[in-house]
Amino acid sequence: PASDPALVERAWKAKERLGERLFVLGHHYQRDEVIQFADVTGDSFKLAREAAARPEAEYIVFCGVHFMAESADILTSDAQKVVLPDLAAGCSMADMATFDQVEEAWDVLTDAGVADVTVPITYMNSSADIKAFVGRRGGAVCTSSNAKRALTWAFEQGEKVLFLPDQHLGRNTAVLQLGLSLDDCVVYDPHRPGGGLTEKQLRDAKMILWRGHCSVHGRFTAEAVDDVRARIPGVNVLVHPECRHEVVTKADYIGSTEYIIRTIAEAPAGSAWAIGTELNLVKRLASQHPDKSISFLDRSICLCSTMNRIDMPHLVWALESLAEGRVVNQIVVDPETTHWAKVALDRMLALP
Ligand code: 13P
Ligand code: SF4
Repeated sequence: PASDPALVERAWKAKERLGERLFVLGHHYQRDEVIQFADVTGDSFKLAREAAARPEAEYIVFCGVHFMAESADILTSDAQKVVLPDLAAGCSMADMATFDQVEEAWDVLTDAGVADVTVPITYMNSSADIKAFVGRRGGAVCTSSNAKRALTWAFEQGEKVLFLPDQHLGRNTAVLQLGLSLDDCVVYDPHRPGGGLTEKQLRDAKMILWRGHCSVHGRFTAEAVDDVRARIPGVNVLVHPECRHEVVTKADYIGSTEYIIRTIAEAPAGSAWAIGTELNLVKRLASQHPDKSISFLDRSICLCSTMNRIDMPHLVWALESLAEGRVVNQIVVDPETTHWAKVALDRMLALP
């Protein structure tokens, strides 16, 4: 059970036994009962930086999803061990771009004569081998908190960007933050021959967006924004940039999970907010800010099921195993992939 006090006590005991040897990272979408054990909480960018800044920690337990734990392994030393309490905690968006599909897309771009002028950018929500692919071809990783800077950098290196795997973050950033038009963007569909695009479309486009999306954020609709505005006069609509373009253009504020938390913390008492992001975070914000009226943008949408796989039984098992000297569910990225993925991650970390 989620809030079983015996499990909570066991987790604290194991954490205490491990002391300084252990560092626990927690993404903002984690359950309340899990996130209380995090030494640091953050969005994906902050968590990547925190992992890189903890060389003294022998074990890093990542309460988040697989691609985040992989990035932590890439950014830490060989001696450090990264543990994901449940290996089934993946991300459906990251799974929408496989290495073979991306290689094939690059061949399509090469045949169209545009690969040489294209810079690949991958969202953090991608597997380590996609990050390595991007690193090898002169590109960088980005997160929702630095996508504008990453795209600005990419357009200084080349004429076009291949943006993986979230079409919404790519489109929203290009159009709303860089001033590109919707016509500058095309969508490459890995399930169709040639991505479903003609060579002319590829030559004319500035942003080649991968056909990927988040299964949670992709479900918020423009009608939900209209509906909440009708129900709650004066409401501020705050959404994550993984939402569809028509949702984001109707919102008042757009940003990463860290930005969402900061915006609510700084909002005046009595203000009303409808938030379009994962439910655990929205619920936590509502309980932390009783002086503000905080609601979920669409009550028919539920949690991120993979983030929620990290629960107390898995966390207790991981921590107790480590305390007994057994490393379970270690995430290990091979050295070649690590090298090139780190090139792409370091380019992101070096962005001005
Ligand atoms: P943030 O980087 O904003 O925390 O987002 C990560 C994520 O997976 C959102 O769905
Ligand atoms: Fe992936 Fe969406 Fe879950 Fe984030 S909320 S981990 S993008 S499925």
